[in-house]
Amino acid sequence: MATRKKYIAGNWKMNKLTAEAVSLAEEIVEGAKEAKCKVMIAPPFVALSEVKKIVKGTNVILGAQNMANEKSGAHTGEVSIDMLKDVGVSVVIIGHSERRILYGETDALINSKILLAIKEKMNVIFCVGETLEEREAGKAFEVVTNQVINGLKDVTEKELSFVTIAYEPVWAIGTGKTATEKDADDVHKIIRELLEKLYSKELAQKMVIQYGGSVKPENAGALLAMENIDGALVGGASLKAEQFLAIINSVK
Ligand code: 13P
Repeated sequence: MATRKKYIAGNWKMNKLTAEAVSLAEEIVEGAKEAKCKVMIAPPFVALSEVKKIVKGTNVILGAQNMANEKSGAHTGEVSIDMLKDVGVSVVIIGHSERRILYGETDALINSKILLAIKEKMNVIFCVGETLEEREAGKAFEVVTNQVINGLKDVTEKELSFVTIAYEPVWAIGTGKTATEKDADDVHKIIRELLEKLYSKELAQKMVIQYGGSVKPENAGALLAMENIDGALVGGASLKAEQFLAIINSVK
């Protein structure tokens, strides 16, 4: 079995003013020096350039929470990939359920963003996950399968080296409800099997698949111990250095 390096990412969502973002980043940089895993933080757009000054030259990677699917031009309110690169971003979260549900992002739009990111050599955390309604209707596997197929349309095996997948069941985000380790691992396994079918066994074994949804210091160890769970995309608990660092340090 391939050894996949664990990857812990913090999605700060629409939280933290610049000064707060800077001090949180400082604490994370300090506390993550000996991290055994890959560490990323994704502050709000307007704090990116100041946070970059803090993470520069450290083992903490700078991420963004979204980007436009076009390179430039008349797209009021959007942020381009070149703008992200300009401030030192090297990974972008694409297809988060809040973008899908609150802002109407479709699989096709998400796919176009992923294709652009790859073309421009930007790393991607590609989010998928079912709603509670879909889970209760027994459709979790089907929904996630379709999101993966549609989101990765026209992405080649080689290009997948830019992509990390994050499974985030919508019903577990910000609710305090976590999928059991087994429920999460089952979906991760489905994703890995799908990648094997779409690409190859080698690729499927290499793919880092994060879990997201109420990940906390108390449950991180058990989740990360599962065979197919290779990291976490953390929301609420990434806003407190102590909690985020405890999650990072649960990777031995
Ligand atoms: P919470 O950890 O707050 O549930 O958020 C998860 C998430 O959406 C990360 O992208």
